[in-house]
Amino acid sequence: MSAPRVLIRHLDQHVDQEVTVAGWVTHLRSKGKIAFLVLRDGTGQCQAVASVRDVDAQTFERITRCGHETSVKVRGQVRADARAPGGYELGVAAFEVVTPTEDYPIGRKEHGTEFLFDHRHLWLRHRGPWAVLRIRDEIVKAIRDFFYDREFVLIDSPILTPAACEGTSTLFETDYFGEPAYLSQSGQLYLEPACQAFSKVYCFGPTFRAEKSKTRRHLTEFWMVEPEIAWAGLDETMSLAEELIAHLVGRVLERRAEELAILERDTARLEAIVPPFPRLSYDEAAEILTRPENVRRAEQAGAPPFEPGSDLGALDETILAEGHDRPLMVHRYPSEVKAFYMEPDPENPSRALCVDVLAPEGYGEPVGGSVRIHDAALLEKRLREHNLPEASFRWFLDVRRFGGVPHAGFGLGLERVVAWICGIHHAREAIPYPRTLQRLYP
Ligand code: 4AD
Ligand code: MG
Repeated sequence: MSAPRVLIRHLDQHVDQEVTVAGWVTHLRSKGKIAFLVLRDGTGQCQAVASVRDVDAQTFERITRCGHETSVKVRGQVRADARAPGGYELGVAAFEVVTPTEDYPIGRKEHGTEFLFDHRHLWLRHRGPWAVLRIRDEIVKAIRDFFYDREFVLIDSPILTPAACEGTSTLFETDYFGEPAYLSQSGQLYLEPACQAFSKVYCFGPTFRAEKSKTRRHLTEFWMVEPEIAWAGLDETMSLAEELIAHLVGRVLERRAEELAILERDTARLEAIVPPFPRLSYDEAAEILTRPENVRRAEQAGAPPFEPGSDLGALDETILAEGHDRPLMVHRYPSEVKAFYMEPDPENPSRALCVDVLAPEGYGEPVGGSVRIHDAALLEKRLREHNLPEASFRWFLDVRRFGGVPHAGFGLGLERVVAWICGIHHAREAIPYPRTLQRLYP
């Protein structure tokens, strides 16, 4: 293939030139002396048209016998054609099979979700996963830009840790040279010292939770971005979460229209995501959830009734969020149902200075955050109440002892945000290779 290789996405810069496209055959249709191939190269799709007038009989025969997902190189002239998928067409002059494919397992018929996830290594090539993962990439870049532009410093937190951050029931334990170690549930504890060294910091990496739940929101391995800010209070934290979410939605609308269209996402729903987001205290939320009509809804759905003072269940979150076209920020939950590190509200010490952001359209809680306890004595008390081993938290207490200051932050779960923005049902579709209670393959 003597003509230069170009990506399908760049064909528009090569109209009337001869180029080589290397990719995979996704469709083939032949009609007598002419064959139409649709090629995919990871950057786009284009149609290649072969005619017995332009290629020899043997080549034409090889083209018409080529199986779905055969990898090929095609040399030909680029023609602008509004009717062709992608707007450009290749007139085939030479054709080469790189690796033939027969019996490609993913066909055009409907497959069950389990089958598709068993073939995730191949399913990645298809339009839906392709669009979702390109949007994920855009969101990751937008997250990094957001924090860099606001002078946050990236501080990577460790994955192997000696203690729990978010409760001991979901820890993955590993053997660390004869001692137990745990896969990180959150980088937060390591960012708290770092914000007192760099002022504004964030970490962004994989986190692990041995979640026994099979809901569409839960993965056992997921990515979380966590900012932490010295001197910040709850209002500042809520404003930052709101700005970040609006920034991510805005970026995807601006740069990933093609992918949103493939996913048939209702973009009007996304265009509504502009600050300010509604804010509701837990106590106001509890009042709504105990209204007779909402109690009846829980009964009808067979969900446990909401008990004032308890954490919100999935249905409670849905009921609260559904009246809003923007994410809803629920703040000041009872301290008892939240993590050990949350600062009590000075106005009502039974409540924590914390926030859960609830996404519209039933996507649950993409963001959770709080102000952190900075008083060493109170923190020690909380560690004891939560049966957490003080020895593993000595360093964490040190941060309070040596000039500790108020600080706050939050965690945004990447897959929940990707699932919501893409409008896909399950968070497992929002990560290249999902890990759940039932899946460790491929
Ligand atoms: O609310 P969480 O547990 O908060 C923390 O981990 C804090 N340490 C964060 C912080 O303040 N720095 O988790 C934060 C977010 C959730 O809102 C959710 O989006 C996501 O992480 N998340 C999960 N995503 C997928 N699967 C799971 N099992 C998840 N658990 C939490
Ligand atoms: Mg949470």
